[in-house]
Amino acid sequence: MRLTTNIKGLTGEVMVPGDKSISHRSIMFGAIAQGETRIKHFLKSEDCLGTLKMFQKLGVAIEEEGEEIVVHGRGFEALQSAEEPIDIGNSGTTIRLCTGLLAGTDFTTVLTGDESISRRPMNRVMLPLREMGAKITGHEGSEFPPLTIVGQPNLRGMTYKMPVASAQVKSAILLAGLQAKGTTTVIEKEKTRDHTEDMIEAFGGKILTEGKTITLEGPQKLKGQQVNVPGDISSAAFFMVAGLIVPNSRIVLKNVGLSESRTGIIDVIRQMNGKIIITDEDTVNKSGTVIVETSELRGTEIGGDLIPRLIDELPVIALLATQAKGKTIIKDAEELKVKETNRIDATASELQKMGAKVLATEDGLIIEGEQTLTASEVTSYGDHRMGMMLAIAALIVREGNVDLTEAEAVAVSYPNFFEDLHELIQK
Ligand code: S3P
Repeated sequence: MRLTTNIKGLTGEVMVPGDKSISHRSIMFGAIAQGETRIKHFLKSEDCLGTLKMFQKLGVAIEEEGEEIVVHGRGFEALQSAEEPIDIGNSGTTIRLCTGLLAGTDFTTVLTGDESISRRPMNRVMLPLREMGAKITGHEGSEFPPLTIVGQPNLRGMTYKMPVASAQVKSAILLAGLQAKGTTTVIEKEKTRDHTEDMIEAFGGKILTEGKTITLEGPQKLKGQQVNVPGDISSAAFFMVAGLIVPNSRIVLKNVGLSESRTGIIDVIRQMNGKIIITDEDTVNKSGTVIVETSELRGTEIGGDLIPRLIDELPVIALLATQAKGKTIIKDAEELKVKETNRIDATASELQKMGAKVLATEDGLIIEGEQTLTASEVTSYGDHRMGMMLAIAALIVREGNVDLTEAEAVAVSYPNFFEDLHELIQK
């Protein structure tokens, strides 16, 4: 795809599509709860539609009714074997969370996915789940998908100290814990997104969070709910950065999810002297309007407990840093190596192709500021967030063309990304 370059500015409003993490979970919780769950602003992207189809295969009636997705949950016990392997595509959230969710069933499920999924580490969920009594194996004895989950209805609760900061691992254990006998306690390495905990409470479950320790008693029954999915801050992030680095820009992002566990990028933008305002805050729905304007930015350091609060935004934050005054250092972010692609290497290599000085380190990136980006051929490596970051980078290229291969990957989390971007462009 030939990307748009050399624009005069970006102005206007974007209604950010639904949050990916919350959309996945709303289907999963709707499926295991009793009664109807109605989901507003569900993200109809490849990843989340994959989760929806998966639960249909497991015998759950799910349909679209006007603007809503309706899940007719009949409780965990009513889930049925899909008989065939289920292909979850590119979605790490689906495979990891559902490994926990399905561990306590009385049937066997095989979960498979695309080429990227078959390289993603699964021991991080398989090992703790096995301690709870689960029977899960990877492909030919490895830790990689396809995963075979031989359901074990007698799971036991346990205390687990997490070796990685991962909301997916935490959520897999909590989902298994909901079906297990006894207490399940998860102690986080760093606090990660807490949508699973929020949703267990919203669906009438009991869960206690004290600092980094989360506890629930199993088994528990949940009740269907109305879920209003806020816009995805991880999708809004591309336009936040675009509005800050493209001259003559002002972008209004409506309905952005503002869970404290996800707003690391806003903290970083402020740290970098970026002009960002939040209005219309809705504390119940944890959402609001975010307004950004072209800014004089300065470099910063990003690490420690901030990392899980902006983990998916790091490639586009690296782009932001190329336009700041001074150096930016990103550390403690080794998890980026095991995302849809190795995002440390991919971010460094593709921004380098565009003329930026970006160095990949063991656990992050070092980015020189005030870089002029230049024409190039770049690739998303089939990674949706890499594709969107590069499309934003192209906007500030003044001469020549930027061609992006595997641009279609954006549909994993933001099918209308290019349409929304073009609405904002002042040529
Ligand atoms: C997610 C958690 C994060 C994030 C992913 C979605 C989730 O992964 O990168 O895009 O929905 O729980 P990890 O928990 O593995 O860090």
